[in-house]
Amino acid sequence: MIGDYPDVIFAPCGGGSNLGGIALPFMRDKINGKDVRIVAVEPASCPTFTKGIFAYDYADVAKMTPLLYMYTLGHNFMPPSIHAGGLRYHGDSPILSQLRKDGLLDAVAYNQTEVFKAGELFARTEGIIPAPETCHAIKAVIDEAVKARDEGKEKTILFCFSGHGHFDMASYDLFLSGQMKDYEYPEDKVMEALEYLPKV
Ligand SMILES: Cc1ncc(COP(=O)(O)O)c(C=O)c1O
Repeated sequence: MIGDYPDVIFAPCGGGSNLGGIALPFMRDKINGKDVRIVAVEPASCPTFTKGIFAYDYADVAKMTPLLYMYTLGHNFMPPSIHAGGLRYHGDSPILSQLRKDGLLDAVAYNQTEVFKAGELFARTEGIIPAPETCHAIKAVIDEAVKARDEGKEKTILFCFSGHGHFDMASYDLFLSGQMKDYEYPEDKVMEALEYLPKV
């Protein structure tokens, strides 16, 4: 509709709905050979696509759901209480998980302080305060844009602005007063949570 086509698409990824919404319409072209990179952006403290495994698991802690074949950190995985609450989910959508396994979906993970820094820059330049979840995609967009600039390339970058941050002022306050901490989820903890996967 705007006479342009993305080179790369980013969205924050909790369970995968906003990523699926913005990126799946381009996936058919990618499967047919179009050069478009599609990237899930997740927190380093809940690294489902970057450190989880592809396996059958429950979608909930209470084990009420049917088993889903997806990337998971284990249904009893308890992520640290970072400020992007909407990204603290142990699994990912089965459709996106299959695409990741097939090599059609990339994923990156960031720590929350660098993510809030990107959100602050966005708010100061665009006049819109992004949700902490959205700041993850913004961080990835800024990194991509800086890389393109340094390489002298022009790129069309599409991202999903998944929500505003008007209810996240306390988190911004912690960040701006230097009290926010990073939590990278350690590999051994990931392995521990995966021990409780259902045996299928
Ligand atoms: C603002 C915002 N963005 C992104 C997400 C991530 O969810 P999903 O990956 O399902 O789109 C959430 C979840 O609550 C959210 O509140």
